[in-house]
Amino acid sequence: MVISKKVKQLMGGSSWVRKMFESAPQLKAQYGEDNIFDFSLGNPVQEPPESFKEALKEFALNPVAGMHRYMDNIGYPETRRFVARQLSDETGISFTENHIVMTVGAAGGMNVALKAILDQGDEVIVPSPYFVEFGFYIDNHGGVMRLVNTADDFTLDLAAIEKAISERTKIVLINSPNNPTGVVYSADSLRGLSDLLQAKSKGRQTPIYLFADETYKTIVFDDIRLPNVFEIYEPSISVASYSKSLGIPGERIGYAAVNPFYSGAEQIIGAMIFANRILGYVNAPALMQRLLPLAGVDHVGPREYQQKRDLLYKALTAYGYSVVKPQGAFYMFPRTPIEDDLAFVSDLQESFHILTVPGRGFGKEGCFRIAYCVKTEVIERSLAGFEKAAKKYGLLR
Ligand SMILES: Cc1ncc(COP(=O)(O)O)c(C=O)c1O
Repeated sequence: MVISKKVKQLMGGSSWVRKMFESAPQLKAQYGEDNIFDFSLGNPVQEPPESFKEALKEFALNPVAGMHRYMDNIGYPETRRFVARQLSDETGISFTENHIVMTVGAAGGMNVALKAILDQGDEVIVPSPYFVEFGFYIDNHGGVMRLVNTADDFTLDLAAIEKAISERTKIVLINSPNNPTGVVYSADSLRGLSDLLQAKSKGRQTPIYLFADETYKTIVFDDIRLPNVFEIYEPSISVASYSKSLGIPGERIGYAAVNPFYSGAEQIIGAMIFANRILGYVNAPALMQRLLPLAGVDHVGPREYQQKRDLLYKALTAYGYSVVKPQGAFYMFPRTPIEDDLAFVSDLQESFHILTVPGRGFGKEGCFRIAYCVKTEVIERSLAGFEKAAKKYGLLR
């Protein structure tokens, strides 16, 4: 075999999101760009804010000597200070640059953090439905993913998490606001999780860590406040990025932040710096690190995403779809009107030219994911198709 057996096997079960996304160009060529409604990938349609573009111009016109060279693997101190200030403002906790490692997006941040903590065979509990890349990231570093179902409304099921905790459990990895459901875990549920993890950590050499993937933390609706994991649980690491908040996922800039209250923070930061190097990232993109402090704290979109959510949610529920109302991110995860999510998603594509992703791609059959980070007119024009599908499958007369 030309390639590794393991990679071949992993690729086989790879990504429904990519499969659906990759079928779009052919469909667009066949039926015309405007007649395909592509909700397959979480690729924000919004352009970065003006402040970002201005900062980019500034560096093109007035380059700083040495700005394209290697740097410390942790990232530039002024960028980390900027992130620390942002985190201190968000959380009310004093972060310094020493709690932050700049990374190649949240994806790079998650890999660096997992590499720093996991030993071969350690278990990572992940509430499901979940972002399917987590499984690959955990496997990259010798870990074993243990999926635990969430409740029917996709909130955390603490009893199920408790049952899944074993002697090998090293990390519980949560993602809120959640991809694919849009659910934001409440402060109460996180406090419950914290109590559980503290109790289960007793007598262990190392605690069970809480990893929070907060990639979507700036996209939260209805005046909900994202609970502050650092205040709730000490051995915690947050991974986030500017991919969605600035609309720049192609630029690959993010960070991992360790809880300043945690006594092992310094060791973890040291391990993450080393991991950044040996995983071959070396450092997060230099130009993006320079831009962040200049771009400031402008974000693209929570208000626009909320409007899109409202438009889609209102229509789908009126057509009879069963949907948990998203509180953040830009995904919706309705139930499919038939059990077979793959059959439904295929029919949505073939009959109505609507591209979505089957729930099984996120560990949950019987649902489908709609990434509504598209132009509002695409949502508007897709609604007739969703309505016809609802009629076809008996949700609506
Ligand atoms: C839950 C989650 N985590 C991480 C990522 C990766 O983010 P980044 O582009 O910052 O690496 C994504 C991207 O869609 C995501 O949905």
